[in-house]
Amino acid sequence: MKILVVGGGGREHAIAKSLSKSPLTTKLVVAPGNPGIETFAKCHPIAADDVQGQCKLAINIKADFVFIGPETPLVLGLKDELLKLGINAFGPSKNAAQLEGSKTFSRKFCKRHNIPQPEFKYCTDIETAKKQIKLLNGYCVVKADGLAAGKGVVVCDTVGQAIAASTEMLEKNKFGNAGKSILIEERINGIEASVFAVSDGNNAVLIGTAQDYKRAYDNDEGPNTGGMGAISPAPALDKDLNQEIFNNIITPTINGMKLEGCPYEGILYAGVMITDKGPKVIEFNCRFGDPETQVLLPRLNTDLVSIVQKTIKKTLKDMTIDFIPQNAITVVIASKGYPGEFDKGVLLPPLKNFDDQTEISIFHSGTSKDKNDNIVSNGGRVLSITSIGENVQDCRQKAYSVVEAINWERGFYRKDIGKL
Ligand code: AMP
Ligand code: GLY
Repeated sequence: MKILVVGGGGREHAIAKSLSKSPLTTKLVVAPGNPGIETFAKCHPIAADDVQGQCKLAINIKADFVFIGPETPLVLGLKDELLKLGINAFGPSKNAAQLEGSKTFSRKFCKRHNIPQPEFKYCTDIETAKKQIKLLNGYCVVKADGLAAGKGVVVCDTVGQAIAASTEMLEKNKFGNAGKSILIEERINGIEASVFAVSDGNNAVLIGTAQDYKRAYDNDEGPNTGGMGAISPAPALDKDLNQEIFNNIITPTINGMKLEGCPYEGILYAGVMITDKGPKVIEFNCRFGDPETQVLLPRLNTDLVSIVQKTIKKTLKDMTIDFIPQNAITVVIASKGYPGEFDKGVLLPPLKNFDDQTEISIFHSGTSKDKNDNIVSNGGRVLSITSIGENVQDCRQKAYSVVEAINWERGFYRKDIGKL
């Protein structure tokens, strides 16, 4: 199999690493990739959201399939363009990716199909928003409709906060078109977990669970980020809850999308809140999570290329996906200042090679090479260090010993990933 992976973050590093281990893989190309991926796959400097560039590359390398990592190319319709060229792709079509691309689409879809979720109100003007905010006494969540790089959600305690957030989106153009319409949601409480399924449009199979650490600092303090670490399996979930989420959320979503003429193929990531009335959907994403992938895939005990092939051939129905019984955690090292302003191009300390060890992986998230071929930072989240262990304590000890040894003075990390 000749495979093109689209993307260049920690998620794509983990995806490429899993694909590279498959006996079915004969050629692995990643675009744009990163210096970590470059050590085992050919990288091409084509941006993930350059739809035409990615299509050309897929033709040039005669890709048997393209694995699309990030949401932006999916929402832009890369899958649809590849299919027009006769190239298979793993990931949802442009229309199906609306489950992530438009929070309004997703909420209205769940409502049509009785999928449990918080109450919501769609608003395009500040007066409607204010009315709803007052109705909820300010205890609500304000969300920009479109993609806002994980920053378009404001969890509010007071009327003032919620009106300020809505005004910034609707009147002050904070997120451009993505914030022209917003949702005011009922704020629900419980423990959050992420559930991942793979679907061929007709059937879905669970491909792991994880808990993400979204806040920048220890004890869930500080601003929201893309994720500062993750643990798998999700401690809040057990077999029964997984089954409940599969039956009440994943299956009706796959069936509903098919029924609406928009079959969902690829990874469906459900962010759920376990409330006292059962699991409810917080959000859907149309791809693997980052950094959740860095803990999901190292636990996968079924060949990832076979999973993709069965998805493309629509034969997932009776597939079982296995995992190793061990736990995994990943700790993100981010640039100081993230998720606000931070420097790029900062030299990283030499990174030890763990390629011959299955229990430790250093995934590159935001790195590049300077003109002297040194590895430098190139993003907010820079590295993610994954460890596999018999229990979470064991994972923490292994992952943090590597993180501490890296000792990057221009970076920071949370010290409580996996802390019980
Ligand atoms: P999202 O980007 O939709 O995942 O939202 C970011 C975070 O906001 C979630 O991980 C939740 O912690 C929180 N959140 C979003 N929607 C709600 C809601 N309706 N009620 C409570 N918390 C929410
Ligand atoms: N870690 C959250 C996400 O990938 O959306």
